[in-house]
Amino acid sequence: MDKRFELEKLKNEIEADKSLPTYGAANLVFGEGNPEAEVMFIGEAPGFHENKLGRPFVGRAGQLLNKLLADIGWPRESVYITNIIKRRPPKNRDPLPKEIKAYEPYLKKQIKIINPKIIAPLGRFAMNYFLPSAKISQNHGLPSEVLTEEGQRLIICPLYHPAAALRSTAVLNCLEHDFRKLPKLLKANINAKIKGK
Ligand code: URA
Repeated sequence: MDKRFELEKLKNEIEADKSLPTYGAANLVFGEGNPEAEVMFIGEAPGFHENKLGRPFVGRAGQLLNKLLADIGWPRESVYITNIIKRRPPKNRDPLPKEIKAYEPYLKKQIKIINPKIIAPLGRFAMNYFLPSAKISQNHGLPSEVLTEEGQRLIICPLYHPAAALRSTAVLNCLEHDFRKLPKLLKANINAKIKGK
């Protein structure tokens, strides 16, 4: 089945799932980008602007993300961008474990459909979804390999959240540095796959 069609179907399933937290009437922010993307960026949850537009990372953090991508020669449209939680929690509060659990089946399906080589979780909540005991200050920019229940081999490369980089020059420097590693990491991963096939 065409990936675009599968993603559209998944989006409709989320809209129809009344068991999910909707926080009053927050809009669904499903995710966007290239369905054939080799790299998927996964943030925490939509914010104010994302909720308004129904698109991920369109506020100030999103502008920084676009710039970081442009600096390594990856247009935003070439990657896939989403969040672990698909609706904005009230007052931008941190997502609760039960909310992450509620959206998990859909995130898993989204990852399965796109089948990226690299997942770059943005910030500690997204990172801890994949690597529960990791610390963002220690693990940012360090890739590790995970095997999903579906047998997908994924490289997880945690990155600081762009919103944190907007608050601290030191974090911004780290984030820029880590971003510059991504093209090499992708290339190495493709070559490793070709060698090992
Ligand atoms: N922060 C996130 O984690 N996700 C968005 O989509 C926007 C801001």
